[in-house]
Amino acid sequence: MDHFEYRDGQLHAEQVPLARIADEVGTPCYVYSRATLERHFKAYQNALGEHPHLICYAVKANSNLAVLNVLARLGAGFDIVSVGELERVLAAGGDPAKVVFSGVAKQEDEMARALQVGIKCFNVESRPELERLDAVAGRLGVIAPVSLRVNPDVDAGTHPYISTGLKDNKFGIPVEQAFEVYQQAASLPNLRVAGLDCHIGSQLTDTAPFLDALERLLLLLDRLREQGIEVDHLDLGGGLGVPYRDETPPEPFAYASQLLDRLARWEGGKQLTLLFEPGRSIAANAGTMLTRVTYLKPGETKNFAIVDAAMNDLIRPALYQAWQAILPVDTREPRDAAIYDVVGPVCETGDFLGKERELAIAPGDLLAVRSAGAYGFVMASNYNSRPRAAEVMVDGDCYQVVRKRETLSDLWAGETLLEDPR
Ligand code: LLP
Repeated sequence: MDHFEYRDGQLHAEQVPLARIADEVGTPCYVYSRATLERHFKAYQNALGEHPHLICYAVKANSNLAVLNVLARLGAGFDIVSVGELERVLAAGGDPAKVVFSGVAKQEDEMARALQVGIKCFNVESRPELERLDAVAGRLGVIAPVSLRVNPDVDAGTHPYISTGLKDNKFGIPVEQAFEVYQQAASLPNLRVAGLDCHIGSQLTDTAPFLDALERLLLLLDRLREQGIEVDHLDLGGGLGVPYRDETPPEPFAYASQLLDRLARWEGGKQLTLLFEPGRSIAANAGTMLTRVTYLKPGETKNFAIVDAAMNDLIRPALYQAWQAILPVDTREPRDAAIYDVVGPVCETGDFLGKERELAIAPGDLLAVRSAGAYGFVMASNYNSRPRAAEVMVDGDCYQVVRKRETLSDLWAGETLLEDPR
């Protein structure tokens, strides 16, 4: 459930008409709903109830400082994949002691900064990374808390680009090797084994792959326990899907209940702190992208609605053939309906936001591309020298611009002409 709905024919974010934001801030523009972010985060917290847990929001999904700050105020932890994300979390008031650090290619300076601020755990993805982390921690005279990201080889049944838990993905340590790598971790002087982690993919609409992964992780924990290696937490990553169209992913409550049931039947399971790293399920339906129709262009075989947002603003349709709802912001004026491909100004045939959508629109009308709060603005680029869009946070009957639209001169900030006078 989210807080974007029609009132008297006008689409609102909470109590604010989206048309007002578009008129005052311009388009394209991302609009987030604070109440929706909070609702989605609390759904996870409530689902885990009294069981020891930490919800580490996956910063990559939407790293705007205001978004991070809303979640930090609710006590969220954060899953980061770069020192840039770490600095954002700190700038947004996040608690470093609740940060887990994922990613296959952590650099020494990133490890050092994370150790310096005292993060909760490094999710280590390979043997060389483990050794490097031990060396960096040794140089700094600290002990690094580690969890191994295990690749359980389960099929998440999602788009191949966002499926991460299969043998031939670059992520994690193969489950068969994990036992030995844990033994090595336990023997290295500057590391402390803190947890076990996996992340099998994104936009999962079924709990079965998560339960399969859990089963494999519990077998590994049994073996480790026999060797005297115990972990404090189990991190099951992110990946819970959202309804973009007609998908019916499980709610956090149903997902968590199934996991908790299984853990309750495993010795020590009730004390094991459970971590989740949800990104999409918190942010996607808490955001919408507003765009204005520039031209309607009837064609022989297709009609095009050419809008002022493009693949550089929202790349998911072009990159993954992702389907996101496209709705008129104001339905009060009568219009003729037609079937359109909704396309942007970028010079690529792949530049579309939606195909074959029935819309009753005229030039100048506003459209809302729904479910754009996750992997939307964060994946934007300046391709075709297009300034990146503004971002707005709605809170009740107010809104605030939480990232200014880029200016034209921002486009070449940092670039220089050649000094060579020829
Ligand atoms: N943890 C790790 C280690 C991850 O790699 C990811 C996402 C998450 C957590 C959060 O997963 P979520 O709850 O959001 O599914 N750009 C793609 C999605 C890429 C996901 C990458 N990893 C898209 O737009 O669909």
